[in-house]
Amino acid sequence: MLGTFATNLEGGFTATKIPEKHHIDWATVKSVAQKADRAGFEIQVPLARWASMGGETDFCGVNLEPMTWAAGLAEATEYSRIFATIHVPLVHPILAAKQMTTIDHISGGRFGVNVVVGWNPVEFAMFGQKPLAHDNGYEYAQEWIDVVNRLWTEDEPFDHKGTFFDIPAAWIQPKPLSRPRPAIMNAGTSPAGSAYAARNADIAFSTILEKDDPDDIQRRFDRYRKNAAGFGRDVSVWSGVWIICRDTEQEARDYYEYAIEQNGDVGVLDSIDPRVLPSTEGLSEEEALKHRARTLAAFGAQQLIGTPDSIAKAMVEVCEAGVDGLVCQWIDYEEGLDTFTEHVLPRLERAGVRKPFTP
Ligand SMILES: Cc1cc2nc3c(=O)[nH]c(=O)nc-3n(C[C@H](O)[C@H](O)[C@H](O)COP(=O)(O)O)c2cc1C
Repeated sequence: MLGTFATNLEGGFTATKIPEKHHIDWATVKSVAQKADRAGFEIQVPLARWASMGGETDFCGVNLEPMTWAAGLAEATEYSRIFATIHVPLVHPILAAKQMTTIDHISGGRFGVNVVVGWNPVEFAMFGQKPLAHDNGYEYAQEWIDVVNRLWTEDEPFDHKGTFFDIPAAWIQPKPLSRPRPAIMNAGTSPAGSAYAARNADIAFSTILEKDDPDDIQRRFDRYRKNAAGFGRDVSVWSGVWIICRDTEQEARDYYEYAIEQNGDVGVLDSIDPRVLPSTEGLSEEEALKHRARTLAAFGAQQLIGTPDSIAKAMVEVCEAGVDGLVCQWIDYEEGLDTFTEHVLPRLERAGVRKPFTP
């Protein structure tokens, strides 16, 4: 399966200064969503961020709010499941359940929620809050989704008294159209986060690392499915890719060099916790900068830089290793989706990993 990710951010998830990058004027955002929709992309997922991550571009900070982004695209599309990404500590479950139900109705039953607990204290401070301790965040998220699930499915008002919420006569009408309920996604990777995904999510995320071989991928992704089976549930496990597709390998490499190595917004690297940056031990200064610059492209998501043949081949490999879906990111989503739809999708269909899409 395929999805798009982060089209609600100025520049997408790429910290570059080039003018050809993605822009978040609504005409562009809508056009990108409709291209993905017509190509049969199963999901479209926004990123939720409140503060800038620095640099000249205010990386990640200039963005359209995910719930209202989803409402607009629910109306503009016909096929994809449109997700909103929600920092659950910042929204009361009654308000969120009602808003999500409304978007589910606008879309005709195609809504999904990406539950995030948040990690950035600067963002919590903007809301006058302190972040919960890490695992407590997932306890809170459990109670939040339990309340939402009941609001979505139970006809009679219920009283909820828990650790985080005390809600008398909780009730919403109408109910969502999605059956049994809107899809739930979670990208937690810690033990508490992945346990949450196993217990609640229809879609979980894991990362494909540069050093991974197919067995590593299979092992890591199977663990999510096994954990979900422990709760008597199925989960599909997705990852993210960042794509530059050109006619030749050289053209693709040259474009990477132009967009990231020459025009990457390196100021962003100063605001990233050095512990999450790739190690540059033993590298010259120039090599170190190149290596760290990878982070500017979707925070080090798996990079597919090459020709339609090499990109399709890499996608088939991760699919065969047991990855159920990939959310895709480009520097320019319009050009990226056009090229992908024309040149890569037919190759995936010929390889038998994807059926031709008929709307
Ligand atoms: C595909 C994907 C999307 C994510 N979206 C967001 C987001 O929009 N906002 C956010 O604060 N965190 C986001 N995260 C972070 C996760 O929710 C999670 O906090 C992170 O993977 C660390 O896992 P942990 O919470 O179990 O420690 C995302 C992660 C991934 C892999």
